[in-house]
Amino acid sequence: MDDLRFDKDGFVEKICTLEGRSISYRAYEGLQYCTNPLDPIQRMNVFVPAAYYEGERPLGLPLSEVPIFMPNTVGGYMPGPADQPGLDPHGKGPNSIFCALEHGYVVASAGVRGRTSGKVTTEFFEGSVAGKVSEATGRKVGRAPAFIVDYKAAIRYIRHNADVFPGCAERIVTNGTSAGGALSALAGATGNAPEYESYLRTIGAADERDDVWAASCYCPIHNLENADAAYEWLFCGHNDYHRTKHQRTDDGGFIRVPDEGMMTDEQIALSQPLKDLFPAYVNGLGLTDDKGNALTMEADGTGSFARWAKRWVIASAQHELGTHDNERNRSWLQVAGSEIDAQDYLQVVDGAVADLDWGSYVGKITRMKATPAFDAVDLRSPENEEFGDEDVDGRHFTAFSMEHNTVEGAELADPAVVRMMNPVPWIAEGNPGATRHWRVRHGSFDRDTSLAIPVILATMLANKGFDVDFALPWGLPHSGDYDLPELFSWIDSLCA
Ligand code: DHB
Repeated sequence: MDDLRFDKDGFVEKICTLEGRSISYRAYEGLQYCTNPLDPIQRMNVFVPAAYYEGERPLGLPLSEVPIFMPNTVGGYMPGPADQPGLDPHGKGPNSIFCALEHGYVVASAGVRGRTSGKVTTEFFEGSVAGKVSEATGRKVGRAPAFIVDYKAAIRYIRHNADVFPGCAERIVTNGTSAGGALSALAGATGNAPEYESYLRTIGAADERDDVWAASCYCPIHNLENADAAYEWLFCGHNDYHRTKHQRTDDGGFIRVPDEGMMTDEQIALSQPLKDLFPAYVNGLGLTDDKGNALTMEADGTGSFARWAKRWVIASAQHELGTHDNERNRSWLQVAGSEIDAQDYLQVVDGAVADLDWGSYVGKITRMKATPAFDAVDLRSPENEEFGDEDVDGRHFTAFSMEHNTVEGAELADPAVVRMMNPVPWIAEGNPGATRHWRVRHGSFDRDTSLAIPVILATMLANKGFDVDFALPWGLPHSGDYDLPELFSWIDSLCA
């Protein structure tokens, strides 16, 4: 008896109508993708456009060749439950599941554990679904590396059932935003890596490959152990912070709570020493630009890497200047005051962006987080909690914050677990199961992490010969799923 067998007749037919658009689909709901789940969230929904059973081919492909789109609903390293076609909680209209079905993809929405699994909280992040995402089981079983273990288990389930599963199990495309973007990047980078095997065995995952075909990553909050230094490389000298926290409400929505202020003297004192750590990290990566020139960093943070990062911002500004695409089509999302024609730090000559004053640009987008941005010295960041476990509520994951720790009895996370949460080392070291196809987006006004972080990921992917589509869309904040037609065109181009 195969407990992980997919029952191809176990569907119900559904219709979803939103904003005058309608989709008909087969829904397989609540599939158990591992035999020994530790939390009720470890279930998957699968949706298939009904058109394929009515003799139609929305993508010009037989169902057996259709990509399987796997969006996750992780935000803030919180649990990400299996989702449904519906409205995007951030007001972007129909969500990615609805749009993917409408476009003609099979959709597999797997629920994965997160740092707050086992308890109910009001925290809410980009990429998350509204409403309750975790049950008060009292079992804190969702800490690192649980989310990627669950995503892999769901991928393995699909492959395990490839002969009967709708769509092409060799065309799985992961998608996510923020921590969910990091999850998508991890699925892309760590395919088949044996280091996850014991965790997969614990939850009773199928014994299959777990590599994917393509990874779509919106503002991936990844490379956490280097993100504090990267943040100060960008924001050192800017001591005021500006953020908006989200809180879930009982009616399934969320409210915004502004939080602005000046860093304390203690926080300011950490900025320069953190910034000073970044050059050694960047120089150790051995990155090159598109002409093969080394990308390096001087002790003061300047150098070819900094110029390269600036080039990506200029390219973004140039694109927006030429098209006004975000201003025309995403004005509801663009950061107020980010309109391309109103940026006085851009030097525009004959319709071309000739230069950008970096300091003014950084001052314009503003610092969001106080030092250290991720590994909090008091262990109170979401990421500290992510590196906890059933017995320890949160841990440090950098030597720097361990050294500056303010909490009695604080521990440093196991480096092997920290590594399992970062896609970059797997790319750097040439994991053979890494996907070839990458799409990475990070808004040019996103300050949840330093733009150096996605630039490093995209540059390394390109240097290693991967197919990578990277951009810093102009004026966009920390967000995702805002250009689904372009994402779907990219996926379709991979099928061709
Ligand atoms: C997310 C945002 C953050 O600023 C962060 O530190 C971690 C996760 C998010 O939106 O998922």
